[in-house]
Amino acid sequence: MEFSTQTSASLHQIKTAALAVGVFADGVLGNAADIIDNASGGAIRDVLKAEFTAKPNTHLVLRNLPGVAAARVILVGLGKQESYNAKVHAGAEQAFANYCAQARLSEGVSTLASIDCPDTTLRSRAQACAIAAGQAVYRYDATLGKKDSKDQPKLKKITVHVPRAQAAQAQQGLAAGRAIANGMQLARKLGDLPGNVCTPTYLGNTAKELAREFKSLSARVLNTKQIEALKMGSFLSVAKGSSQPPAFIELKYQPAGTRGAKSAKAPIVLVGKGITFDAGGISLKPAANMDEMKYDMCGAASVLGTMRAVAELELDQPVVALIPACENLPSGLANKPGDVVTSMSGQTIEILNTDAEGRLVLCDALTYAERFRPAAVIDVATLTGACVVALGHVNTGLFSKDDELAESLLKAGRTANDPAWRMPLDDAYQEQLRSSFADIANIGGPPAGSVTAACFLSRFTEKYRWAHLDIAGTAWRSGKDKGASGRPVPLLVQFLQDQA
Ligand code: BES
Ligand code: MN
Ligand code: ZN
Repeated sequence: MEFSTQTSASLHQIKTAALAVGVFADGVLGNAADIIDNASGGAIRDVLKAEFTAKPNTHLVLRNLPGVAAARVILVGLGKQESYNAKVHAGAEQAFANYCAQARLSEGVSTLASIDCPDTTLRSRAQACAIAAGQAVYRYDATLGKKDSKDQPKLKKITVHVPRAQAAQAQQGLAAGRAIANGMQLARKLGDLPGNVCTPTYLGNTAKELAREFKSLSARVLNTKQIEALKMGSFLSVAKGSSQPPAFIELKYQPAGTRGAKSAKAPIVLVGKGITFDAGGISLKPAANMDEMKYDMCGAASVLGTMRAVAELELDQPVVALIPACENLPSGLANKPGDVVTSMSGQTIEILNTDAEGRLVLCDALTYAERFRPAAVIDVATLTGACVVALGHVNTGLFSKDDELAESLLKAGRTANDPAWRMPLDDAYQEQLRSSFADIANIGGPPAGSVTAACFLSRFTEKYRWAHLDIAGTAWRSGKDKGASGRPVPLLVQFLQDQA
């Protein structure tokens, strides 16, 4: 996808297949809509009265307007002007991009980013436009026998129309948005691939491919023997229940010119849960919807997608991605309830439920992260069904004892339209993890399940600033539009851009 800016003053003379103009409720026209209305002798105001109430996420297509060069003018609803915000703007860009993709247009021009909007900048609005376009053209077809070419969008180019003085800002936003969209597409594809294709080895190969594509990235994939040598007894206890070999993936991003430099900034470490299928193990999950547990590697997928974006953007901030990848299956070698394992940290863990495996693989990756002397560590995991109960599919659960780190992540989520909500992490919850047979139990009972999962991880993160993102509710959509969302790539890339 190609993105560019247009700054010509005469909107009505722009030749394009589709020109998006924003309209607020109660007949309030955005600047671009007003210009097109005047040029066409009131064509927009005419339809507003009768046919278009400008609710958010709606649009109306007007063709062949007199005095207007664009083949179609797409009126995009922005809702009431007083409640216009970043989310409504992003939804408007998405409505336009979806229309262009579905109508199989090859290009379009959006004026939506030029409309002022509280708590946004032109840069962030241009970024939202590029992300929307990238999302609109994503199609999963890797395992379809009949690849339906009729469904393939042709959209190749989106142009944003902005005031000349702000073109540079818009360009920056578009570049960031394109990188984020590419990262999201990678994350969505990895998530959507079935468990028999997207294995731990496949994730490792994906990291190696990224390192081949970008000079700034280097990949190392550790095998069972090497993982054993690191004494990752907790991670390995989950992995040994499956015939698929585990992989411990390390993907490093080093900004250009800083390789080998002693004075380089401390890296930010991203840790992604890479359970490529979670059957629950001996604590087997019920059959209904178990297929969705192929998405249990979406933490890993979003971390890989984020690394791709970071490399494309050439951010001035070192980043390390760590992914413990394996399957969680029942077998004669699998963990059993009551088993005690020793983690890389030396702490012993009583496994009371083999389905609480995410924390068992993450804890060893979190201990491994210490060796990078990180500025901060952020883990991303489809960790608990309880987080879905608490926050649904809207907000990612954010857990951190570090107020400053938590606030930066929340802010990044707001800026990038990929919201998170802070959850508690009080020491009082730690008591639920007490075990008579080990240093810690791997479950804390039904109350506050997403919090006790985070508490478990916190025991392995005492040597650095740390935050945990539970994406169980936000990483994919269920139902008839089942599919990976690409979240929280926008939040993570925004956060890293803000640090750089
Ligand atoms: N991968 C699941 C969490 C999950 C469940 C994500 C449903 C999305 C939808 C995780 O490994 C798991 O099974 N967690 C258990 C923990 C419990 C045994 C304490 C859960 O949430 O039920
Ligand atoms: Mn599980
Ligand atoms: Zn899981």
